[in-house]
Amino acid sequence: MLNSGSATLQVGFYRSTCPSAESVIRKAVNKAVARNPSIGAGLIRMHFHDCFVRGCDASILLDSTPGSPSEKEHPANNPSLRGFEVIDEAKAELESLCPQKVSCADILAFAARDSAYKLGSINYAVPAGRRDGLVSLKDEPSQNLPPFFFNAQQLEANFARKGLSLDEMVTLSGAHSIGVSHCSSFSNRLYSFNATHTQDPSMDTKLASELKAKCPNNVGASDPTVPLDFVTPNKLDNKYYSNLKNHRGLLTSDQTLFNSPSTANIVRRNTNNGGAWANKFAAAMVKMGSIEVLTRSQGEIRRNCKMVN
Ligand code: HEM
Repeated sequence: MLNSGSATLQVGFYRSTCPSAESVIRKAVNKAVARNPSIGAGLIRMHFHDCFVRGCDASILLDSTPGSPSEKEHPANNPSLRGFEVIDEAKAELESLCPQKVSCADILAFAARDSAYKLGSINYAVPAGRRDGLVSLKDEPSQNLPPFFFNAQQLEANFARKGLSLDEMVTLSGAHSIGVSHCSSFSNRLYSFNATHTQDPSMDTKLASELKAKCPNNVGASDPTVPLDFVTPNKLDNKYYSNLKNHRGLLTSDQTLFNSPSTANIVRRNTNNGGAWANKFAAAMVKMGSIEVLTRSQGEIRRNCKMVN
């Protein structure tokens, strides 16, 4: 049974226990994003990877313990997930201001919102009151996070398991209008697509040659990164959807959204109405942020986001 948690989380949760919580977090995010805009992308992705695995309980932030590797070590997170130091910096300041009041799971939810504001002027109130989990297991991302080669149907089923609709899945994929991908997450589309085509015929041929220049075949240990959205790489906007219409989606899981009849019209609508997409994105982030949350006496408030108390 999914616990949507929205009934238990509250906007303004820290108003009396730690009034500066949200401003401390926003300041840490603004500072980091000013230095490197794509750290904001990292934080939005980190919230997604937290919420889809054991709910939004900051399990993504826990370090491995001897003999028990944590979620961080899974190939979906290591080495690509980034922004941990921003959460740690905000947490350290909050521990000195109001010890053990503000959960790491809430810090991550606020930091994702602050990143969306900074990179896309998308603002929304974040219901809070999440508690931090005690468990993080390396193999759980495989069972919960969608891989880059999923088609629209598989993505729909994966998001449905977390209580998110087809429209919300397409809308949240718009986060791929910022940040980067390693070549290894799409190089199959360039060099080893299938038995008939070495190159994915659904990819614009000009994009394919640009990508081949940046991602040589068999690069071995080196795995360069390229922007997910070549048009506005540091702006959280609906250009992602026009890229898909132009066959310039980077990942299989991106391009499938325009190529599949069940989602093509959602892509068209999101292309044509950026304001409506931004509103849907904000609402879907709040919903994603309430997946299977721990509240009240469940879990704990960690002192250090990297380890249980
Ligand atoms: C629909 C299924 C999704 C799949 C299959 C997927 C897969 C991926 C992959 C493979 C990357 C590149 C990783 C790398 O190689 O470095 C990536 C990056 C990213 N994803 Fe997703 N993702 C999905 C949905 C989402 C959602 C729902 C969000 C947030 C709401 C999100 C936010 C991001 C961001 C911001 C980046 C760039 C990260 C950075 O630059 O550090 N993704 N995703």
